[in-house]
Amino acid sequence: MERLQKFIAECGYCSRRKAEELIKNGKVMVNGEIVKELGSKVSGGEDIVINGVLLKKEEKEYYLLNKPRGYLSTSSDDKGRKTVVQLINTKARIYPVGRLDYDTTGVLLLTNDGEFANKIMHPSNSIDKVYVAKVEGIFGGEAVHRMEAGVTIDGVKYVPKKVKLKKFDLVTNSSIVQIIIGEGHNHQVKNMFEAVGYPVSKLKREREGFFELNGLKSGEYRKLSKKEVQRVFSTK
Ligand code: URA
Repeated sequence: MERLQKFIAECGYCSRRKAEELIKNGKVMVNGEIVKELGSKVSGGEDIVINGVLLKKEEKEYYLLNKPRGYLSTSSDDKGRKTVVQLINTKARIYPVGRLDYDTTGVLLLTNDGEFANKIMHPSNSIDKVYVAKVEGIFGGEAVHRMEAGVTIDGVKYVPKKVKLKKFDLVTNSSIVQIIIGEGHNHQVKNMFEAVGYPVSKLKREREGFFELNGLKSGEYRKLSKKEVQRVFSTK
């Protein structure tokens, strides 16, 4: 027997956290009865219906995409905008692991394995996310120190793991800065640079954990190897 939310995530329907939300909101039926308690358990033999649709197990799939600009990090959009999932040739119900903004590019993992998504995203794992930002202004030593000391946004202090000025250009009054963070809050990098007075004009994620682009061009993707998937699950 295992917890209902874990089972739903393992079927590839969504992440465990999303499954918890669905359960709490009364969207999940087990053998014809709505279940709202997060503690309930299933064996896998039950009929589980979510939002009126019978849950089916599907093969797990894992992808690494070099996300282009102009794509939403979601599986579907009610306004008909392009989504990252449309870039992947599969019938599986995959979804992005976390989010990159519409105009952010770079490393984005996609899967239908809720446990995998949870492992990558869980704050306690604090997986490195390496970003390269083009910012307005000359991001000198003082700015680097201020950022490294941590910035407070809406009462929460964010301390980057590392900040490094890569280049600056006096003519265009802009800088290229690498920043490594462990969390993954919405717009976190842009908000952090904004808070110290250097708005971001371009943002790329170069690495997430041990996943790097390694020559993948914008819009290109590859399947993860079994070894890579195992490595994610074996890291504490
Ligand atoms: N931080 C941001 O501000 N945007 C992203 O897309 C990712 C991290």
